[in-house]
Amino acid sequence: MTKTMKYKPKIMKEKICMITGANSGIGKATAIELAHLGATLILVCRSQIRAEKSINEIKKKTGNESIDLILADLSSQREIHNLVSEFKSRYNKLHVLINNAGVNLSKRIMTIDGIEATFAVNYLSQYILCNLLFNTLKNSAPARIINVASSYQAKAINFEDLNGEKHYKQMKAYMQSKLAVVLFTYEFARRIRESGVSVNCLHPGIIKTNIVRNFRPFVKYFYPLIGLFMKSPKRGAKTSVYLASNPEVDGITGQYFKRRKKAKSVKISYDVALAEQLWDVSVQLTNVDLKNN
Ligand SMILES: NC(=O)c1ccc[n+]([C@@H]2O[C@H](COP(=O)([O-])OP(=O)(O)OC[C@H]3O[C@@H](n4cnc5c(N)ncnc54)[C@H](OP(=O)(O)O)[C@@H]3O)[C@@H](O)[C@H]2O)c1
Repeated sequence: MTKTMKYKPKIMKEKICMITGANSGIGKATAIELAHLGATLILVCRSQIRAEKSINEIKKKTGNESIDLILADLSSQREIHNLVSEFKSRYNKLHVLINNAGVNLSKRIMTIDGIEATFAVNYLSQYILCNLLFNTLKNSAPARIINVASSYQAKAINFEDLNGEKHYKQMKAYMQSKLAVVLFTYEFARRIRESGVSVNCLHPGIIKTNIVRNFRPFVKYFYPLIGLFMKSPKRGAKTSVYLASNPEVDGITGQYFKRRKKAKSVKISYDVALAEQLWDVSVQLTNVDLKNN
């Protein structure tokens, strides 16, 4: 056993787990912990180089060789469909899906599908993956979906200007996408009741990661200083790992977690009519719906 390798009970040995955004920050730390626990991991990353660096690090730190990679840019719906096809050609089971990838963009960027990129990556990619992988998760039940949200949740969704064409503000777009994640998590839980698949979301904490790479230069300049007061990615991964692996959360679904405990999300996130409206808009934007899969 090398110096960096720690003994942990291999409680995830038979489990196949997919993690998006696994080459950096909280996603990579989550992958390392689950690899320690013996899981077979499928990392979803958009850069071969960054992904290979991460895989080598995970293997070296944990001794777990069962680390697979599927490349996909989650801002592209075609690439998400290709990722799911590729996954299904390699595996017929999936026990844990961790939708972790995210961005926080100071400038408004449109995706290849004509959707504002924060909304597309942070929320719509989760919506599509959950729906397209649901049957595989169900056939692997008990299975778990973990959606990484944030405590930064907006108080409304502006359906009239989802793409921020009239007005784009970085934090407004970010918080709207995270409110969408929470609304969707609760709605998906209602729609897949009794399936043996749970779906929960979480706030990882305020964590020092690469998320600031697309912030304005002055924020990036002060980040090393601000970062002194932030927690490590390993701490940020704790709630994701807990929800993915701990027997305490068996059967718990449709909840928002902070520091490994159930927590309250913003009031509007419990609005069922709004969640249904978001679902309908998501169907229109993606052409993906649970009932068609
Ligand atoms: N850090 C915090 O304080 C904090 C607080 C609350 C919530 N969160 C959430 O935690 C999650 C992880 O973020 P992090 O803080 O660990 O940031 P990070 O270090 O920047 O990691 C984000 C990951 O998402 C990937 N990603 C971004 N856009 C992608 C795309 N279009 N296609 C595929 N992958 C993409 C990144 O890949 P590349 O390396 O290729 O860009 C990276 O692997 C995010 O959902 C974030 O919103 C973070």
